[in-house]
Amino acid sequence: LALDYQDGRLSLDGLSLEALAADFGTPLYVYSQAAMIDAAQQVDTALAGPTPHLVCYALKANPSLAVIQTFARLGLGADVTSGGELFRALRAGVPAAKVVFSGVGKTPAELRAALDSGIRALHVETEGELAALNAIAGELGRPAPIALRINPDVDPHTHPKIATGMSENKFGLPWGEVLRIVEDIRKMPGLRLVGLSMHIGSQITRLDGFQEAARLVASLAADLLSAGVALEYLDFGGGIGVRYADETPPSPAEWAGALRAVLGDLPLGLLAEPGRSLVAGSGVLITRVTGIKRTPAKTFVILDAAMNDLIRPMLYDAYHSIDPVLQRPGAPVEPVDIVGPVCETTDTFARGRDLPLPEPGDLLAIRQVGAYGMSMASNYNSRPRAAEVMITADGAALPIRDRETYDDLVRGERLLP
Ligand SMILES: Cc1ncc(COP(=O)(O)O)c(C=O)c1O
Repeated sequence: LALDYQDGRLSLDGLSLEALAADFGTPLYVYSQAAMIDAAQQVDTALAGPTPHLVCYALKANPSLAVIQTFARLGLGADVTSGGELFRALRAGVPAAKVVFSGVGKTPAELRAALDSGIRALHVETEGELAALNAIAGELGRPAPIALRINPDVDPHTHPKIATGMSENKFGLPWGEVLRIVEDIRKMPGLRLVGLSMHIGSQITRLDGFQEAARLVASLAADLLSAGVALEYLDFGGGIGVRYADETPPSPAEWAGALRAVLGDLPLGLLAEPGRSLVAGSGVLITRVTGIKRTPAKTFVILDAAMNDLIRPMLYDAYHSIDPVLQRPGAPVEPVDIVGPVCETTDTFARGRDLPLPEPGDLLAIRQVGAYGMSMASNYNSRPRAAEVMITADGAALPIRDRETYDDLVRGERLLP
């Protein structure tokens, strides 16, 4: 990612963040399309092997249409977890045949929409969904392609709030019950079992959990193949970590290479569903300092961005580095709390962070926010959501989402008569 200081001014892919803030206002998400393309190509190249493969970008990390389009134009598919994400994937031009639909609580309307549009497969996580899908497939007169999401009961060594593949998590079907469930599926003529999938968590920085889980899923697949099930693919999920502070995650290429190795010579296609690792590093959130408040206990740097724009620090104690957009040589470096204006004590991006003391009006850049930033933004405190700009691979600053207006805030609401 080309995020660096040029003559004391922070710039992304050669464009000054100060100039972008002047043009588009703050808070502002800015993404490097080149960084997204680079991350996607690394995974795609490393997954290549003797059998077909498909990278299904997990939309939840950043579902903006221009981001999805960026990946779709590289040939990637999509992993969606709601009818809304399915709508976005199709709207952005992802072919339905490259979409997989995961999730523990799909509604009948979502199941029907997915089958209707002809997606690659529904990834089933509850036994109840099998019967529902079988019935809908019967009505539509065409079989439903499904994969079973396996819960391998493996510790991914990540933050407990983003672990998904342990037995106490709500996700996936317990691995020990898969062979029995497959026997049940044989009795449901509307279902066509085409794959097995897993996804053990997010922001994982070690390969061992992935490998352990993938080996288990691969061995289940081998059993099913010998029992005559016409499996087509294994989907090893997403979850690869990125460097926010001092983590040392495997590279996307190392991760993908390790998964390809686990597949060995099984005659199956290989899918993966990375989200964070394709977009996290591509984004910065530019925000303006609105005030400095000194109390006997602390110094607070107050921003125009808040937890409604970027909730990761408040939700997961996540660390994001925060840097001045214009360097202030000689500014005293002090430990400060960097906070937003929302009426919650938790509306704090960093506590006791050493920062060259800014002045009101200065711009700061919060780094590594391309994933689970804008996608988790809300209107809490009736704050319009931020605008988004993409710096395209050929160096243009392209607005990809307008800043919301106050009218947007009340759209769909009705006054009492
Ligand atoms: C089923 C599924 N696939 C893929 C992902 C993407 O994970 P990540 O962004 O960590 O790569 C998630 C995220 O939690 C998920 O639930």
